[in-house]
Amino acid sequence: MVPVLCIDGPSGSGKGTLAQRLSEILGFHLLDSGALYRVVGYAALDSGIDWQNSVAVTQIARSLDVEFMPSQQGVRVIYRDVDVTDRVRSVLGGEGASAVAAIPSVREALLDRQRELARAPGLVADGRDMGTVVFPQAPLKVFLEASALARAQRRQSQLQQQGEDVSLPRLLEAIEARDNRDRTRSVSPLVPAEDAVIVDSTDMAVDAVLERVMSLVTARGIVRSVD
Ligand code: C5P
Repeated sequence: MVPVLCIDGPSGSGKGTLAQRLSEILGFHLLDSGALYRVVGYAALDSGIDWQNSVAVTQIARSLDVEFMPSQQGVRVIYRDVDVTDRVRSVLGGEGASAVAAIPSVREALLDRQRELARAPGLVADGRDMGTVVFPQAPLKVFLEASALARAQRRQSQLQQQGEDVSLPRLLEAIEARDNRDRTRSVSPLVPAEDAVIVDSTDMAVDAVLERVMSLVTARGIVRSVD
């Protein structure tokens, strides 16, 4: 069976960076499932469809024309041949993702697309329900936590790099509201899988988190050793 490493956790916990670094080190494919939900939210907005319109939004999710292209600055998101990376990664993009992600039929529509990516030599899957719903048989599930303040600070510097200036209190409020929605929704709520290893990255540098997860990867025999 193709090994899948699940990296779940709330926004800003460092999942994206960790997943990307792991996929580079191991030579595994990368699934950024949040980007899929972000594109669905963006596509709805772009077509003038309300995020609450579950029938129309599900239709969008079923026929989503999206491609993920690796580049020097991370993975670019191409929707209908247009690079929408910055638009989907904005604060509004996160709001849309969280709204459409609460619709059960949208989640269902995206399941196969996510599972298809589990191809040799392996997959690193970043999201909220990778370990609980999408890849329940995965040999390693990490649930990455961090305090809301640390996550808001990280998000602020990420957005600044994209040229979007958002105040810390506003980001903190948005992160807490989004987490609350993600944790309490009835379908695929943000919870650690029973067999997940919980890593709190509040006071850890990226390299330390990476080292910890790589030690789990080798301890579980997922790869023999990495130079
Ligand atoms: O990870 P990211 O911040 O890009 O995710 C955006 C939103 O998409 C999350 O707040 C969550 O509502 C939703 N999401 C989800 N399930 C996933 C990944 C993301 O519900 N596996």
